[in-house]
Amino acid sequence: MQRIALVTGASSGVGKEFVRQLDLQRGGPLDAIWAIARSKDSLQEVARSCTNIPVLPIPLDLTRDESFSRIQEMLETQNVVVEWLVNSAGFGKFGDFVTVGDNQNASMVQLNCLALVRMCSIVLPHMHSGSRVINMASIAGAIPQVMLATYSATKAFVLELSRMLDHELAPCGIRVTAVCPKFMKTKFLDEPGDSQSADGMCRIGFEDVSHVVSKAIDYAIMGKATCIPSLHMKLLYAASRCMPRSVLFKLEDILFR
Ligand SMILES: NC(=O)c1ccc[n+]([C@@H]2O[C@H](COP(=O)([O-])OP(=O)(O)OC[C@H]3O[C@@H](n4cnc5c(N)ncnc54)[C@H](OP(=O)(O)O)[C@@H]3O)[C@@H](O)[C@H]2O)c1
Repeated sequence: MQRIALVTGASSGVGKEFVRQLDLQRGGPLDAIWAIARSKDSLQEVARSCTNIPVLPIPLDLTRDESFSRIQEMLETQNVVVEWLVNSAGFGKFGDFVTVGDNQNASMVQLNCLALVRMCSIVLPHMHSGSRVINMASIAGAIPQVMLATYSATKAFVLELSRMLDHELAPCGIRVTAVCPKFMKTKFLDEPGDSQSADGMCRIGFEDVSHVVSKAIDYAIMGKATCIPSLHMKLLYAASRCMPRSVLFKLEDILFR
């Protein structure tokens, strides 16, 4: 039986870095890494850059039904056990809700929430005791952020779902970790929607992608349900939990708009 890792959003940014660190066996020995995203060329480039573990590029759009049937079929017909599932595919658009618009609001829910739920549902039956799920949430899921309403809400969903799944699956030895970084310099910010809002929000600063991924893997191995890699964000999260939402949002208006 082949031990595999399955990484979504593997063509760039955080997902690509997960593939790199899993290839370095940061997550233990593996026989293959299945890398999913839409861009075939970028996935092939990621596969070529890995030297220790064979990487299988699987170009799929996770907003389409048939993509999940394909993954399910691959899991059922190949003799594999999934050691790692990393759900990194996702995107966010900045701006007020109406300006972000129907299409982008709906697409964020579809990719950030629905695709992640479907990946977990399909993959979990192929995991065993010791397997790990990492879900990319965001600090915006832990501390809701103005001018990022739908994105914040999708990431709050990811955070809560991960915590509940971790509780449910812990007796089987499968642990689920939600990762909540602040901003990172990836393609995520290439087309942010309202760039003025994005510039305002990015005043909280950036985290290093490889540090975030390294912490995420460490936390997952330790069996922690939530990973907030930055100490500043941990403190801010603790403070925000003592604050009424109305006060938090007014403060954010002053600081970021
Ligand atoms: N960067 C940040 O500031 C930041 C902060 C906190 C949390 N996050 C979260 O971290 C995760 C990774 O983001 P990132 O920074 O690595 O951004 P990124 O560089 O834009 O990567 C996003 C990945 O998702 C894939 N993707 C997008 N739409 C897809 C679709 N319909 N089907 C399949 N794959 C799709 C993209 O590949 P293709 O385009 O090839 O499909 C790409 O591999 C996201 O969930 C994001 O919300 C990011």
